[in-house]
Amino acid sequence: TKIWALIPAAGIGSRMKSELPKQYLEIDGKTILEHSLSRFLEHPSIDKVVVALHANDNYWVKLKIANHPKIITIEGGATRAESVLNGLKAIQQQHGQDDWVMVHDAARPCLDNASIDALIQAGKDSAHGAILAYPSVDTVKLANANQTIDKTINREQIWLAQTPQYFPVNALAEAIEAGFKQGITITDEASAIEAQGMHPALVIGTRKNIKVTEPEDMMLASVWLVT
Ligand code: C5P
Repeated sequence: TKIWALIPAAGIGSRMKSELPKQYLEIDGKTILEHSLSRFLEHPSIDKVVVALHANDNYWVKLKIANHPKIITIEGGATRAESVLNGLKAIQQQHGQDDWVMVHDAARPCLDNASIDALIQAGKDSAHGAILAYPSVDTVKLANANQTIDKTINREQIWLAQTPQYFPVNALAEAIEAGFKQGITITDEASAIEAQGMHPALVIGTRKNIKVTEPEDMMLASVWLVT
């Protein structure tokens, strides 16, 4: 069985307040997308990397890695989940029936190799897949509609989901399609899998694996990428 990586990179990064989509901002001479991709391009267990790009993307072709033999580009969709489903369909056209896929946000450039290894290992022990996540270090409040506190949630039970998220290709494609039909909000791959009654494993990642979302995240990511 092969392991694919799938990188949804078709977002426009509206919260970043920048002309350029955030995955194309540079840190230490390379775009965020290139940093995110390089972990998978260099990893010996990852067979091919599918990148979902916006239909009007003018930036990808200018990158040095644009013609990398391990990369396949496809067109993304209107939401992250649609971009992922498009990628899964491209994989299904080529894959053996028991391939797995690791979906990773283009906007998480600080992923480390050990986390990829841990996820692959967890996939061997879990029939429902596995995701990287980190236990909340903050106390978590459930809010009322008027921004007052309803109650405090037991912190021991709170994990913040990261990527990569690692699933069998067929199971994930079926779960996302079923989720669309059921009108479920799918913000990550695991949410689609959970909605079908499955329980993916939580694999502890690192706090460095942030999603670059707002301008101040650039500073944080650059510290972790250059040290
Ligand atoms: O906007 P957000 O930070 O949640 O995006 C997470 C990832 O999903 C980013 O890498 C973004 O490029 C990608 N995305 C996508 N297609 C969309 C929206 C977001 O591939 N339509």
